[in-house]
Amino acid sequence: MTEEERERLLDKLDLAQKVRLLAGATTWRTVAEPAVGLRPMVISDGPVGVRGESWDERIASVLLPSPSALAAMWDDELVERLGNLLAAEARRKGVHVVLAPTLNLHRSPLGGRHFECFSEDPELAARAGAALIRGIQAHGVAAAAKHYVANDSETERLTVDVRMSERALREVYLAPFEAAVTAGVRVVMAGYNSVDGATMTENPLLAEPLKRRWGFDGVVVSDWGAVRSTVASALAAHDLAMPGPQTSWGPALVRAVQEGAVPSAVVDDKARRVLRLADRVGVLGPPGRDQGGRTGVDDERALLRRAVAAGSVLLSNDGVLPLDPAAPGTVAVIGTHAVRPRVQGGGSAGVHPRHVVTPLDALGEALGDTARVLHLPGPDPGVGPLPLDDGLCRDPRSGRPGVLVRALDADGGELFAEHRLSGRQLEPPIPPGTECVEVSAVLTPTVDGVWTFGVAGFGRMTLTVDGRPVVDGTFPRETDDPAVVHVDPPGRHGRIRLSGARDVQIVARRELDHDSGRAVVVTAEPPAPPADTAIAEAVEAARTCDSAIVFVGTTPDSESEGRDRQELALPGRQDELVRAVAAANPRTVVVVNAGSPVELPWRREVAAVLLCWFPGQEAGSGLADVLFGAAEPAGRLPTTWAARLADAPVTGTRPIGGVLDYDEGLHIGHRAWLRAGTEPAYWFGHGLGYTTWDHERLDAPAAVDDDVPWTVRVHVRNTGPRRGREVVQVYLAKPGSAVERPVRWFAGFAAVEADPGERVTAEIGVSPRALRHWCEAEAAWHVEPGVWHVLTGRSAGDLGLTATVLLRRRNA
Ligand code: BGC
Repeated sequence: MTEEERERLLDKLDLAQKVRLLAGATTWRTVAEPAVGLRPMVISDGPVGVRGESWDERIASVLLPSPSALAAMWDDELVERLGNLLAAEARRKGVHVVLAPTLNLHRSPLGGRHFECFSEDPELAARAGAALIRGIQAHGVAAAAKHYVANDSETERLTVDVRMSERALREVYLAPFEAAVTAGVRVVMAGYNSVDGATMTENPLLAEPLKRRWGFDGVVVSDWGAVRSTVASALAAHDLAMPGPQTSWGPALVRAVQEGAVPSAVVDDKARRVLRLADRVGVLGPPGRDQGGRTGVDDERALLRRAVAAGSVLLSNDGVLPLDPAAPGTVAVIGTHAVRPRVQGGGSAGVHPRHVVTPLDALGEALGDTARVLHLPGPDPGVGPLPLDDGLCRDPRSGRPGVLVRALDADGGELFAEHRLSGRQLEPPIPPGTECVEVSAVLTPTVDGVWTFGVAGFGRMTLTVDGRPVVDGTFPRETDDPAVVHVDPPGRHGRIRLSGARDVQIVARRELDHDSGRAVVVTAEPPAPPADTAIAEAVEAARTCDSAIVFVGTTPDSESEGRDRQELALPGRQDELVRAVAAANPRTVVVVNAGSPVELPWRREVAAVLLCWFPGQEAGSGLADVLFGAAEPAGRLPTTWAARLADAPVTGTRPIGGVLDYDEGLHIGHRAWLRAGTEPAYWFGHGLGYTTWDHERLDAPAAVDDDVPWTVRVHVRNTGPRRGREVVQVYLAKPGSAVERPVRWFAGFAAVEADPGERVTAEIGVSPRALRHWCEAEAAWHVEPGVWHVLTGRSAGDLGLTATVLLRRRNA
């Protein structure tokens, strides 16, 4: 449809009809307007998968590695292919807008959504984000860049007011969003937070630079529930208030226009944008355009398996890896994460994966009969109570694996009942008249001892085991955060001793009160064996085996939307476990399963450390490929990892008096470490692979113009025993600059592949923006002509080649 045709449609609508277009019809749908042939747009969370319109464990999704792993790939093409996979999922589920990518930065390692963001570096985040957007949008689906802007931590996330210099804002935090707009992103999500005193749905940054300077012609959608005013948010360049149907717009906005507080042209512009988006995703005009279509991903499991290796970062290796699959000997596989890997982080982005390949299963399959694999769980890392599921219990009515969910009226009469697979019911069915939701199950205890049962939600809740009360109380809602209320409400727990393999009946009830959501989550946790015994058994297995692979990682408590982390230490006694195993077996490999930085105090005591992030559904098979050398661990760190939290130069996530000051300015990530002159455990860009490289020569142009992109060429040679992939990185510096600058900053990368002994040339493009700085006095980008330094190498801390270029200003 042309702009004129859409304009004619807009003219057919009266004020109330236009205003209706600007708010959700439901939690995940926009409104339809038959008068102009507009059907609803369906919106779903990303970025690790496309959940669809409901939280229903029976509706499975493909599960990608989390974004910190995507950025660790340093591979635009692969990230774009993974975006294609999200597009395919969106098509399959009738979704038109995928709420991804998350473009906030790894400012502090404590950031609760670190795993969901790409990098500490604006350039790398921009590239990964643009690649994912291209992939998602290649098939008529819209991507949504979120959360605009400076929503980099979670503490007080609904209200925090972030303050920073205009220069840091433009050069660092806005940069990935600017790249998203350049990549053609169709939706931008305004965050909950404030910047400079104005909440993002009312913030002047929506108009300038987003819509004016950058020319964004799509829709600004609110984060869920982030529109908290009528006039101020309408006057800001905000377009669509989600979710619906209750919002601060609707009739209140109609009145505000009628009373002259909001010009009607403002509403027209928003409605115009909504129609444009609807047209782009195929729900305006003749039906059918949003159906079917090729998505270009034939073998999703193979792609996701490849993605695990592509994002895994080999942090250290004394030569133990890859293990020889032909002569593996006996292998001790240690740790809970080997059987219960963390494949995604917590929060609104969660999906129900179709399956998860566990590392233990995949290692067993890779080795077949050639090796003996022993698994020892080690001490409980503190995974905590897990929702009842079809592996643990049965529906008391049908006897099928799973639970029974019932909706009850005020007299306890059954209004609805259904068999479900999980005790985590975020949107249980509640027909009219429902007063109470009940989840019940029969459990056959697998071990004797004190079990912990729990029920999560708000309001009055009870939980009984064989009629004995375990939880009984009223728990008022103490937050407005939708990620807490609807996704991860707090649990109340009680303990009870169970013995003998005798069935017990679990019945949990939650009375619904208005405004506290309807989520109810019923959990069970078996007694853990004593940690000392678990460590001793793991050590004994390691001592008798030829090699040991220890899986360590974070727990659901430590990486989630809605809260920041308090520390970077691995939970429980995992550090002690690694140290004890490494002391017993010199061939100890540690696999770190975490979406964000963790402290690895034993990193020099083990033979190899492999970081797999949250690797998605094919976790195990991808990791087996890496451990046995079928694939190279091709990832590089997208973020600098501190040895200890105390060393990290920027950590603050706690607002003071509601204000969070980014007083480090431009200096986050490796820039902060360089300024402090201290050494991290691993620099931004670090990662080893399975071969070695010599960076032989750097060619940079002698002189460049300030408005023309230029190319750096680095000639490298594969000096190791096998084909490999090298990520060649370019950094810039301007010694003696008249303006404040980072010691050096990342300007671009290229990846090359070569066989043993082969020489190849990496060509890295440098954009003029990498040499510009934001001049606050003139509110414009400036350049500083003169001599600049170009440094290239393997990480922010390993740059062996340097050159100088003369920067000329063309219009001086
Ligand atoms: C999150 C967003 C998410 C939205 C919808 C919010 O709480 O911050 O990232 O897209 O919920 O689930």
